[in-house]
Amino acid sequence: MAAKKDEFYTQMADIERELQHYWPHFVDKVVLCNCDDPYESNFFKYFALNFNQLGLKKLICTCFDGSPVLGNELLLDFGDFTDDPKKMAYKVEITEVKDLNGDGAVDLADVQYLLKNDKNAISLLKQHGDFRSAECIELLKEADIVVTNPPFSLFREYIGQLMQYGKKFLIIGNVNSITYKEVFPLIKDNRIWLGPSITSGDRKFNVPDDYPLNAAGCGVDTNGRKYIRVKGVRWYTNLDHNKRHEEMDLVRLYSPEDYPKYDNYDAINVDKTQDIPCDYPGAMGVPITFLDKYNPEQFEIIKFRKGNDDKDLSVKGKCPYFRILIRNKNPQTL
Ligand SMILES: C[S@@+](CC[C@H](N)C(=O)[O-])C[C@H]1O[C@@H](n2cnc3c(N)ncnc32)[C@H](O)[C@@H]1O
Repeated sequence: MAAKKDEFYTQMADIERELQHYWPHFVDKVVLCNCDDPYESNFFKYFALNFNQLGLKKLICTCFDGSPVLGNELLLDFGDFTDDPKKMAYKVEITEVKDLNGDGAVDLADVQYLLKNDKNAISLLKQHGDFRSAECIELLKEADIVVTNPPFSLFREYIGQLMQYGKKFLIIGNVNSITYKEVFPLIKDNRIWLGPSITSGDRKFNVPDDYPLNAAGCGVDTNGRKYIRVKGVRWYTNLDHNKRHEEMDLVRLYSPEDYPKYDNYDAINVDKTQDIPCDYPGAMGVPITFLDKYNPEQFEIIKFRKGNDDKDLSVKGKCPYFRILIRNKNPQTL
């Protein structure tokens, strides 16, 4: 059974806001959503509805058999596919979406029609739909791009598997995942980066009906579905997007008074990304939110958090919150 903290369901608006930056990547590609129950996943809904516009070759969606059903408007009637499909792990494979029911529009009703009538489109999984299971790994091998919001508790393993199989991906995670020893080196080496659409604030996620609504930021939306607001969410990807090639405007000048050096590394401390001095050629320690603006042509990432003595970076004995050490590749000469 999935852990309760893993059951956060992504809103369609958040998926649309991010995906709009990547459309050319999807032409003629096999997309896999492997933590997604088509009953409830807006990732499935997004790709099924935009299948033709994106020019997809195939959409594969697999779900985990512990995933509870939220009962949203996406509930698809799969006919007599199984007595109780909601409790079973299954996969959906779609290779075309067209006006099957002849109502003049290509919409969710057609997807439902397809799943009801095409025996090849939907089938049970034997190994519980775990993304690490052999049958799910076979589907991963077939995929070109993986897009989902994976279980928070398994993020390290999840991204590790994507890297192991050399897959392109776009996934949601917590901003703190940047600090994981399995993740930071990938960011440092420009093998993965952050997506452009979420850089601050919180995001609403739907939660199962039995989710306790005592935490701050919880509520029930107009259609009666429970949600929780989650802070510090980011998209992680290795698909290129234009925003990461935009230059950050730097307006401050270096002065030793404003930018003290660390005790244990030859670098200056910069408390806010916007205050990075435009003319400093050496190493600088910046907050991890720098990565929301990181352009690899403008900056180089040196290392994370630790000084030469392998202790946290400190200024006069005090450690600021985690810092990333960077260097401006083209500092201004005044
Ligand atoms: C954060 S939720 C997101 C669900 C969906 N991707 C979305 O964004 O709406 C993660 C989902 O992964 C499922 N899950 C948990 N462990 C899993 C595993 N080992 N393999 C595949 N899916 C898993 C959970 O049941 C849950 O539905």
